[in-house]
Amino acid sequence: MTVFPSPSGRVAVAPSVLSADFADLRRSLAPLRRLAGWMHFDVMDGHFVPNLSFGPGLLPAVAKASGLPVDAHLMVERPAMFVEPFAKAGAELITVHAEAAGAAACVAKIRKLGLKAGVSIKPGTPASRLAPFIGKVDLVLIMTVEPGFGGQSFMADMLPKVHEARRMIERRGRPVWLQVDGGINEETAVPCVAAGADSLVMGSALFKAPDPAALLRRMARTL
Ligand code: DX5
Ligand code: ZN
Repeated sequence: MTVFPSPSGRVAVAPSVLSADFADLRRSLAPLRRLAGWMHFDVMDGHFVPNLSFGPGLLPAVAKASGLPVDAHLMVERPAMFVEPFAKAGAELITVHAEAAGAAACVAKIRKLGLKAGVSIKPGTPASRLAPFIGKVDLVLIMTVEPGFGGQSFMADMLPKVHEARRMIERRGRPVWLQVDGGINEETAVPCVAAGADSLVMGSALFKAPDPAALLRRMARTL
């Protein structure tokens, strides 16, 4: 099993497959292999968010086409139903929302299955909701758009929350990735990293770039 790199002071980009070319996943994902940290796989159930995406059936194709570990970001009302199916499908990290039913039990189950666990909060949820999770997760994800759709504008008013989450992680003294998701591009990445993020989900800005690999190389040099 591929092991997720530990937070190391370096910034890892997680390409969001939601914006990839589904007609040719290999061509879309393979060039990112050496440049990205892992793949971000958005799961939507039409209840927790007003959209549908994909289930565990597609995950092995994403892992194979990218050659990267996959993080399943579960934007679903009942994540407990999906932890095992995603573990079986080969997700190496599973991120659940703190707002969803049974989130803490899901984190415990994910870790018991030997996988990395993440916890996410929506824009309206305060950083304090992360407190019970910080000692138990490998990744904290701060949503920087209302979850549900790619291609939305970055919410700069989430930056203080990113900073607060960074302080919570530092106080705890455990290696935990701090990730942002939504509207991230070369410009919005800068204040996120300054606020303490060390992982950036990138969907539309990455896959719509004329040369996504060149964009990742440039970001690795500048961030
Ligand atoms: C939004 C998803 C994101 C999305 C980001 O609900 O969680 O992962 O793919 O897309 P961009 O980078 O286009 O905002
Ligand atoms: Zn996401």
